[in-house]
Amino acid sequence: MAMVCLSDFEAYAEKYLPKIAWDFFAAGADECSTRDENILAYKRIRFRPRMLRDVSMLDTRTRILGTEISFPVGIAPTGFHQLAWPDGEKSTARAAKVMGICYIASTYSTCSLEEIAAAAPGGFRWFQLYVYRNRAVSRHLVQQAEALGFQGLVLTADLPYTGKRRNDIRNGFRLPPHMKLKNLEGAFEVCEMISFFHSLCCLDPSVTWDDIYWLRSLTHLPIVIKGILTKEDAELAVRYGVQGIIVSNHGGRQLDGAPATIDALVEVVKAVRGRAEVYLDGGIRKGSDVLKALALGAKCVFIGRPALWGLAYKGEEGLQDVLRILHDEFRLSMALAGCASISEIGEHLVQFSKL
Ligand code: FNR
Repeated sequence: MAMVCLSDFEAYAEKYLPKIAWDFFAAGADECSTRDENILAYKRIRFRPRMLRDVSMLDTRTRILGTEISFPVGIAPTGFHQLAWPDGEKSTARAAKVMGICYIASTYSTCSLEEIAAAAPGGFRWFQLYVYRNRAVSRHLVQQAEALGFQGLVLTADLPYTGKRRNDIRNGFRLPPHMKLKNLEGAFEVCEMISFFHSLCCLDPSVTWDDIYWLRSLTHLPIVIKGILTKEDAELAVRYGVQGIIVSNHGGRQLDGAPATIDALVEVVKAVRGRAEVYLDGGIRKGSDVLKALALGAKCVFIGRPALWGLAYKGEEGLQDVLRILHDEFRLSMALAGCASISEIGEHLVQFSKL
């Protein structure tokens, strides 16, 4: 079967993954309205393409927090890559390095941070953190990530508790016994990491903005906060000195009824006024989605589920295929909209459809 667009990888993953894994990847909270809205919202945005602008040479390179990437797409943190492919996050790290993009490794990786770093030495990586009630666990993870050469710390802010994902409950989702949350092995006395949900009980729901000061005291890494959806929180993030904000609703897996991220992006960008970099994840499925997000002020976007579908297809190679298709589509959309480089992308390129 020719793989032409990201939906082809989705169809493959749905067909070949065990149902319990597919359902876990696909899950949204409650009725999945936010998950689905993330995708639908792009369809309400139309381009205002410009013509006759010499697009014979196209440059998709840009920088995030000072590091050059080949195009403005990265890999969002998602857990349990071994559910998609035996080599798990090692394959993800290799694919991201080959493609010259940023990979945000999740706390809930099934490979350890050491294994991820060793699989793709010199790759551009950030580490995503959940804060545990036992702060020593989080401290250890942050310091380990910094020592291993991760270049940024991503604090996920939208998961004080896990959203209600109906199919995971119906399926009794848990990791198969041979898979481990490698970064958390031995971290908790009470729980032997027998189940994912058990480890979630260890998360600290009392985290507040002031904990950013605590994180700052642990590391020199730049801090990026993930899960911001409003101008009020964007303003706080800037005041607390974060270097980056990821506009995200966790792929619609947390609060059902939260806005589509592309809709929330506009107010966040406006509030931030260039004082931090703003990124987005959620619902990116085509190169033209990337162009719309950049036009509305995102510096880079990140993909969650499509990366898992690529892994499910053919591991490292499959993920590279997904990224290559997205890169090609993005380049073509830029050209057809009359942009030869990232700096030519701006708000003038889009309009919200009246439909
Ligand atoms: C996630 N997401 C997530 N976020 C995070 O900060 N830490 C994590 O461990 C996970 N794990 C996770 C697992 C799975 C299966 C999914 C689908 C998502 C959220 C993720 O980073 C991102 O916000 C969304 O996946 C983006 O939406 P799309 O690209 O999947 O539509």
